[in-house]
Amino acid sequence: MDAATIAINQRMNKFDGHAQVWLFGYGSLIYKADFPYLERRPASIAGWTRRFWQGSHDHRGTPMAPGRVATIVPQAGAVCDGMAYLITPEVFAHLDHREKNGYLRLATDITFDDGSKVEGLVYIANEENAAFLGAAPELDIARQIARSNGPSGPNSEYLLHLASALRELGKSDPHVFAIEQHLAQLKDAPPAAQ
Ligand code: SIN
Repeated sequence: MDAATIAINQRMNKFDGHAQVWLFGYGSLIYKADFPYLERRPASIAGWTRRFWQGSHDHRGTPMAPGRVATIVPQAGAVCDGMAYLITPEVFAHLDHREKNGYLRLATDITFDDGSKVEGLVYIANEENAAFLGAAPELDIARQIARSNGPSGPNSEYLLHLASALRELGKSDPHVFAIEQHLAQLKDAPPAAQ
């Protein structure tokens, strides 16, 4: 499935011939820019909301014990805040590999914080990908995140980095902040009796 996602993304030709493309990041792409970019600007996309509904087999969990990472799902009237990066097309090889566990490139309108707009791309993991986990109560999501680990490190680190990055941007996300709060309470709770 990973290889299939990379191949599908490579066939995405909407921006062929463009020397530069805006990429919108809403998850780890906000706080971990391990790729070259020409410009970085706080931005948002309308009609989408961030959810920890995507399973992670390759970064923050394993195929047997997947972690939970962010994707976005359509929601009328919602606005998802994040970070936009102006990149050159060569960078997509790295991004397609990084996002290979179910994320597909989608063209989207991106609104910068000054109100100006541009068309760009976002990586989305929808319910059709094999790693998709879907909705769950935020406490259960926090419990899964608390116990998950993968090659990129503890799943909790992903959530906590994202929550702090959103705070640094001056943005609020009730879903992310609720999971963060549950995680803190789980950490403080005494271990369950055997
Ligand atoms: C994103 O950050 O925009 C995609 C999901 C992720 O890599 O965490």
